Amino acid sequence: MNIVIIGGSGLIGKQLTILLRQTGHTVTAASPSSGVNAVTGEGLSEALEGAQVVVDVTNSPSFDDEAVMHFFRASTQNLLAACARAGVSHFVALSVVGSERLPESGYFRAKVAQEALIKAGPVPYTLVRATQFFEFLMSVAHVGTVGNTVPLPSAPLQPIAAADVAAALADVAVQVPLNGTCEVAGPQALPLDALIRRVLQARQDPREVVSEANALYFGTRIDERSLVPGPGARIGPTTLAKWLANGY
Ligand SMILES: NC(=O)c1ccc[n+]([C@@H]2O[C@H](COP(=O)([O-])OP(=O)(O)OC[C@H]3O[C@@H](n4cnc5c(N)ncnc54)[C@H](OP(=O)(O)O)[C@@H]3O)[C@@H](O)[C@H]2O)c1
Repeated sequence: MNIVIIGGSGLIGKQLTILLRQTGHTVTAASPSSGVNAVTGEGLSEALEGAQVVVDVTNSPSFDDEAVMHFFRASTQNLLAACARAGVSHFVALSVVGSERLPESGYFRAKVAQEALIKAGPVPYTLVRATQFFEFLMSVAHVGTVGNTVPLPSAPLQPIAAADVAAALADVAVQVPLNGTCEVAGPQALPLDALIRRVLQARQDPREVVSEANALYFGTRIDERSLVPGPGARIGPTTLAKWLANGY
């Protein structure tokens, strides 16, 4: 198949490009660094010429409320219009498990807006919602750091290796569109405080994780249900222990 990956230079995009090429597909990895900008529309029509499948694994360079909302709205509108013009038969986008349960967060509001545009749009689609990547957990620690401590709640997360997310997307991209949503998550749900403590210890990072029920996660409260997948989620095989042992 002829597949275009928007955000093909990113963490997920790079791995997805390799996986799909290994299985014989013709893959174009597109992003601003290769002259394709989904927010301005620059280079989109040319990149999508002849494409059958488009996978959107972009991310906003800024997580500020207004900037991230503008990013996902403008990029999704431009992508859907360009896909419709090019006759693309399947649009796949990567979103986050639980986005609609965290309306206090500007980032999650923007992901919900992205999903709504895709659901209402003219192109057959599949939304893949993933839990937090193992590769993202140090950012959780950095954002939550106060002095030399990291106050965090013990609500569960079920994080996943980026490689397992890429593998799920590679499968979904070559299937028929679901016109719906599927979820992908890691093999274990762990309390957020314990999880970050473990990652910091593995990196010999001296910051101390302090368990605090009311501490915020990226500016929002999370509870037992906020960030874990529902029944039927595809489970990636890589455990946190294996990922850490592999030198992350
Ligand atoms: N982090 C997590 O734990 C997590 C969990 C679930 C879902 N997700 C979702 O996963 C997706 C991908 O995340 P990631 O970590 O792989 O992202 P990433 O590594 O930050 O890569 C972002 C990609 O977006 C591209 N990009 C930026 N601005 C663009 C624009 N205007 N037009 C086209 N492409 C643009 C970048 O291209 P350049 O390199 O050229 O700038 C890069 O290829 C996000 O949508 C995120 O919501 C993340």
